[in-house]
Order: sequence, then structure tokens, then C-alpha cells
Amino acid sequence: MTPHSQDKRLERMDDLVSLCARRGFIFPSSEIYGGINGFWDYGPLGVELKNNLKARWWQRVVRERDDVEGLDSSIICHPRTWEASGHVEHFSDPMVDCRACKKRFRADQLDDAGKCSAREGSSEHDFTEPRNFNLMLKTAIGASEDAASVAYLRAETCQPIFNDFKRVREAARQKLPFGIAQIGKAFRNEINPRNFTFRSREFEQAELEFFCHPNEREKWFAHWLEERMRFHRELGLTPENLRTRPHESDELAHYAKQAEDVEYHFPFGWQEIEGIHDRGDWDLSRHSEYSGKDLGITDPDSKEHFMPMVVETSVGVDRICLAVLCDAWRVEELDGGERTVMRFHPALAPLKAAVLPLSKKLAEPARKLHAELRRSWNVFYDDSGNIGRRYRRQDAAGTPFCVTYDFDSQEDGKVTVRERDSMSQDRVSIDGVAGYLRERLESLG
Ligand code: GAP
Repeated sequence: MTPHSQDKRLERMDDLVSLCARRGFIFPSSEIYGGINGFWDYGPLGVELKNNLKARWWQRVVRERDDVEGLDSSIICHPRTWEASGHVEHFSDPMVDCRACKKRFRADQLDDAGKCSAREGSSEHDFTEPRNFNLMLKTAIGASEDAASVAYLRAETCQPIFNDFKRVREAARQKLPFGIAQIGKAFRNEINPRNFTFRSREFEQAELEFFCHPNEREKWFAHWLEERMRFHRELGLTPENLRTRPHESDELAHYAKQAEDVEYHFPFGWQEIEGIHDRGDWDLSRHSEYSGKDLGITDPDSKEHFMPMVVETSVGVDRICLAVLCDAWRVEELDGGERTVMRFHPALAPLKAAVLPLSKKLAEPARKLHAELRRSWNVFYDDSGNIGRRYRRQDAAGTPFCVTYDFDSQEDGKVTVRERDSMSQDRVSIDGVAGYLRERLESLG
């Protein structure tokens, strides 16, 4: 069977949502209780995809550089952190309540509010005036639940980076310019979670805070914008679906002097997947003030004492995961029917290969080959159902190579390796399969 030219790209998110649930990429959290709005679970394929994305980010941003250090901080910080950062005061969305149906909506998204379910005769909502609603999720520490025990789940992963700035710089013996990076969970009580995982209440961020001299902030802003676009292009995202967009001055966050978004063209429109921000000295100055610890730096040569400037890159891991899923999705017409195939970049594919014996009778040597291959990669083993159906399952999982062990394999010492996108097949010696896969996976980056 050969693929035809009229492949279908993703147009309706529902097609992706149902594939993700069926194949075990992503599904609603606590599904047996009806789900919980804004929370998602990553299944066997989803966790591998997400881990591959995070590993790639860590490799590019931390490991390949002398001037970036890693961090894994706690999710709950001292509550003063969020006063200093401005989140207690500013981190809110204007919202309105409907007096009739008691639902709450973002004041800037009322076009999406739909009809009011509680007003017979009129289906218009009866809205209150907009009020500000703080998006931080609160918890209580210790046995009592008084004001002194209030703590927040972090609303962004960067604030603990600022808390730890002095410790990390000294421990790693870093001089300016240098950065601190971390990947981890962030929590926001979004009023209107939507578009699958795009706007969730619990999500992951991969953030870099890069500290530099005030004279160099523009240079480093340009450097990191370029680096981050390179990263997204290297994920194999369709170039026409990627763009950058500078923020207008009235869009800037309370801390930002300059900001540019990296946007992806989702089926629901152009949307931000990453923000590059010039945060100035807002964070270090505020944490110096609130903690009473001077986080400024003295230049050893000039003896100048100054507060470093911060250039931040902040990407939502769930959002790049969603962009990769949307971009990979295809339905292809074949001579003998159609197939759904996830055309992941091989470096991101959750499974790199699947070993498929033609018959259960061939399980023993096929299992031996599987055991050898899985020492290097995440490799699936499947001996149930007809071979065509097994290929389809791997296509929908986005597995780049299927290795078929057949009855001739015993005689000629070879297996058939089928490539996902072209569906072309090569006969490869069993001893050489690992080398063959390594070469092909590496040549694709
Ligand atoms: N430290 C800066 C910061 O947090 P942000 O623009 O609020 O800036 C950065 O968030 C990135 O985090 C966004 O570009 C997006 O990818 C991701 N993000 C933010 N809110 C999100 C949400 N509710 N669900 C999923 N991802 C989110």
C-alpha cells in the first residue's frame, strides 16, 4: 500500500482528543468520577512523549551550556515569595458571575459564555460587574488553618529560582552572565480551562532565568529569542505554523519591560506556547527588599554594585506537547483503506520501534531481539492480531520503525524493518538491527 497525496491534517480538536484517550496519550484526570476540569493525566505514550520533550529542553538549555545551571525546587515556597513577586496583589483575571445560573466567566471571554441554563423565557445571563479573581491556588500548612498557615502552590516555576539565586551562583561558582533553569509543575486557578490541555489548572513549565549586566539585556534577549525559535524548529513543527509576536505595551505583565511570544497555529487559532521576557531587575530587587538579603552583585574589577537584569524564557511543556501532537496528526488514504498516523520527529516519538513476530510460534527469537533493542530504546513487543492491524496500532502511536520477525528469519537470519512515514521496507540482518536503527534514528536528529 502506498500513501496518497491528499493526507488530512488536524482540523477538529475532537479528533485528537479521542485519539489521545484511545491510545493512552492524554485523558481526563479522575475520569471514573467524571473528570475534574482543567486537570489531565498523561498515559503510557503521553508520559514518554512529554519526557522526551523535557529531556531535549534540558539538553539544549542546561547540559550544552557552561553558563546555565539546573535546579529542582520545592513547589511550595515561603508565602512572602508571592508577596514580593507581585502575585498576591496583581495575579488576577477580571471575572463576572451570572446571578441566575451561578456560573463564573472571564470578563474578557463573554462571547464564549453560551446560553444561561437557568433563565426561562430569556437565555441571556444576568452578569454581575467584573471583579478581580486571584489565580493562585491556596493550601494550608500544618494542623491549624488560620491566616498564618496559608501557602500557595507555585504559580510559575521561576520564583524559587530567584529565591535560590545567591546559593546557586555561589555553589556553582558562576559569574555573570549566567542562568538557572528548572522544569516543574505550576498551578493556576484558571476561570475557564479550555482547548484540551492548552489552558489547564495544573501544568508544567520549563523556565530559564538568565542574569546579566544591565548593559547587556538587549543582547541576551535577542540571543535567547533566537535560541528558543531554533529549539521549536528542531522539534520538526511545520515552519508555517510557528511565529513570534512582540507584546504591545498594554499587554506586558506587571514585571516585564519587553516580551515576545512564540506562537503555534493550533486548530483553534494562533496561540502562545512560550514567552521570552525582559523582567529587568524586578524580581531580584523585590526579593532583596522582602527578604532583607541583598541579592545584588559587586563586579570584582570595577567594584560596581548592581542588581542583575533577568531575561526569561518560559515554555509550557503541555503546550509544546499539544503543538507536537496537533502537528503530527494525519489521516492518509491508502489503496486498501485509510490510516491514522502520528508523524512525530523520531527523537520525540514515545516508542522508537516495535518488534512484531508474524506468529506467536516465533515468540522466542522475537523476544530475544526485543530484549536486545530495549536496552537502547523504548521498544514495544506485540504478537496479537494480524500484521496489518499491528502496523496500524504502531502508526497511531507514532512509532518510527516496525521490525517483523517472519518464518524466513530463521533461515536467512534477517528481519523486515518498515519505516512509518514512507511504509518502505528493508530486509536487515538480525545482528545488524540495532546498528541500523541507531543510524536511521540519529540521521533524523
Ligand atoms: N514566568 C513567566 C510566566 O509564567 P506566562 O506567560 O504566564 O509567564 C509562561 O507563562 C508559559 O507557561 C506560557 O507561554 C504557557 O506555555 C504556559 N502556561 C501558562 N499558563 C498555562 C495554563 N493555564 N495551562 C498550560 N500552560 C500554561
